[in-house]
Amino acid sequence: MAQFVKVTTVDDVPPETMKGFEVENLDIVVVNTGGQFYALSNICTHAFCYMSYGIIDGDAIICTCHGADYALEDGKSLSTMADKPLATYEIRINGNDISISIPDQS
Ligand code: FES
Repeated sequence: MAQFVKVTTVDDVPPETMKGFEVENLDIVVVNTGGQFYALSNICTHAFCYMSYGIIDGDAIICTCHGADYALEDGKSLSTMADKPLATYEIRINGNDISISIPDQS
């Protein structure tokens, strides 16, 4: 069963920015597109660069290493550069706190 774990705060990820976090041994990037928040794996499936060093492009994020891009909504790879999607995590905002759903790893 999944559990929600606090990752950061709304204030810590201003609009049109993203930031990487390590939570429960997972590398997560939290993305804020003008008040809409997303949580995805921070590790590019192409060659393991941090997505948090990348670029927000509308409803997608682009890895700066070789240009793989992924949909924010479901992590789907949008180009042939990466053939696997980024994992996505359900996100919950309570006041200023941002939590994500972590799958049960037992
Ligand atoms: S590591 Fe991200 S595009 Fe190559």
